Amino acid sequence: MDHRDHVALIRGGVEGMAASWLELGAGDGAFTIALADVLGSGGRITAVDRDARALRRNAEVMRGRFPAVAFTPLDDDFTRDLPAGPFDGVLAANSLHFVADRSGVLTAIRDRLVPGGRLVVVEYDADRGNPWVPHPFSFGTWRREAVAAGLAEPRLIHRVPSRFLGAIYGAVTARTRSEARDGVVHSRPHGEDREE
Ligand SMILES: C[S@@+](CC[C@H](N)C(=O)[O-])C[C@H]1O[C@@H](n2cnc3c(N)ncnc32)[C@H](O)[C@@H]1O
Repeated sequence: MDHRDHVALIRGGVEGMAASWLELGAGDGAFTIALADVLGSGGRITAVDRDARALRRNAEVMRGRFPAVAFTPLDDDFTRDLPAGPFDGVLAANSLHFVADRSGVLTAIRDRLVPGGRLVVVEYDADRGNPWVPHPFSFGTWRREAVAAGLAEPRLIHRVPSRFLGAIYGAVTARTRSEARDGVVHSRPHGEDREE
């Protein structure tokens, strides 16, 4: 995969949204760069990863290629703690498959999104893993998991064939406005005014 594939996997979930995004498991930044490219100048990305060296490389590339996008690296475990936000969007590319039971982290992500805010996931379209990708989840599985976590029905953005586990997909779901009304946030200041 190259930068064009990375952009194609996420663009349909990012475009049209406001600027403040959280990236989980950003690593050395293949998808951070794609996100920055789609957000453009004025974008703000907070990138969480437990690999501090990868985050340093990511920050260096971001400074060089996207100086007009604010980049905040956070060396942390995203299963234990997430920054408060709220965020217009969350991107998790090839990182949620390290978590066996994702229900807790999905609830935490949902609660950090503005009403209508989006979660974009990039994942192998497989339900059987290996030592490098221990807990992948197919798009079919993702549809059930996201809805069970109180998120909207996911929509497929794009799919790229992969020799490793068959294919990679990008999908977008959202914190629905009705779910948010049961909580504390009632305004709808960001993004498109529609349920996903
Ligand atoms: C396969 S890499 C993906 C990097 C990048 N998102 C990409 O797709 O190129 C997975 C990244 O998630 C990070 N990661 C995995 N579990 C994590 C956790 N619980 N907390 C923070 N980072 C985590 C790893 O350190 C690694 O940088």
